[in-house]
Amino acid sequence: MSTNCVKMTEMSVFNSNKKTVLSGVRPSNRLHIGNYLGSIKGMVLLQNSAEYNNFFMVADLHAMTTPFDKNRLAEDTLNIVLDYLACGIDPSKSIIFIQSYIPEHIELAYYFSTLLSVARMRHLPTYKEKVKENPGHITMALLYYPVLMAADILAYKADFVPAGKDQEPHLEVAREVAKKMNSIYGTHFPEPVMFKTKGAYVPSLKGYGKMSKSVEGSYIGLCDDIDTIKKKLAGVPTDIGRGDSIPKEGGVAALLTLVALFEGKEKRLYYERQYLSGGIRYSDLKDELAESIFAVLKPIQKRRKEFESDLPGVFKIIKEGTENARAIASVTLSEVRGKVGIIKI
Ligand code: TRP
Repeated sequence: MSTNCVKMTEMSVFNSNKKTVLSGVRPSNRLHIGNYLGSIKGMVLLQNSAEYNNFFMVADLHAMTTPFDKNRLAEDTLNIVLDYLACGIDPSKSIIFIQSYIPEHIELAYYFSTLLSVARMRHLPTYKEKVKENPGHITMALLYYPVLMAADILAYKADFVPAGKDQEPHLEVAREVAKKMNSIYGTHFPEPVMFKTKGAYVPSLKGYGKMSKSVEGSYIGLCDDIDTIKKKLAGVPTDIGRGDSIPKEGGVAALLTLVALFEGKEKRLYYERQYLSGGIRYSDLKDELAESIFAVLKPIQKRRKEFESDLPGVFKIIKEGTENARAIASVTLSEVRGKVGIIKI
């Protein structure tokens, strides 16, 4: 047994008998209540159930696949870690790490790339979307995005990946490459699947689609104060407040969904009855909703402040998480190097 293996079994946050969950966030923007209710809250519950090994990665290399600001990358990366910690990700139960500090990901991605065709990568919907968004920035890194993501996941032999629906084609690539590696080289990669945490669908404040960090004006940030939340809710498009049937889409539908999420289903029914009879006063609804959302965010913001006031402590968490992650990834890589026939010197 290699020394790395010994280290692995001694690591209290990693148990090789448990299944592994890995999730990653690109540090492009700050997290919002959609991320929180949609995935992070579920991940915290999972973490606390102690059923799985949990990895939380900040995918800073992935942030470089589209135009990015070099003066903000480091800060954005730190902000994601702070958001994770503030939301209750606990470094004594989960491994929090920074992608770029684990060169094994890039090495593994390279081996994977020998089994994936350029045509396959160019046909992925996310690639096509980005090409449309940034026609002047079609880089090798962009083409490599899914290859690197497969490596992120398989370096830890992760079984489950909590991610948005848009990531499914990438997971498909990861499964494909795992299968190929196993059959051609006799490796033992799992075929990772999307992990459905008990998350909520949080609608965009614009009244259509999902709350998204890339759509300005669609989201409430985890660090928004009560006035900002009120201002953002004030911008949600509404109607005259009454009608013959409850709107199924648009701003009113979004508000009712948010009411159910933050104030409970009873409250939603109460407003629905008002809508069908005397009418809703949206200013009252929005004020009350703002208070309820802020009540959820307050403890998160308080915890965040505590971590912000101890940045050396946060960097210690990041360093330890990254060291632990690397110990595991390097075991996978030494196995893969041997299997693909790299000389041992
Ligand atoms: N592509 C993911 C996103 O944009 C981020 C990501 C990178 C990721 N590597 C990952 C997610 C590995 C899950 C697992 O949301």
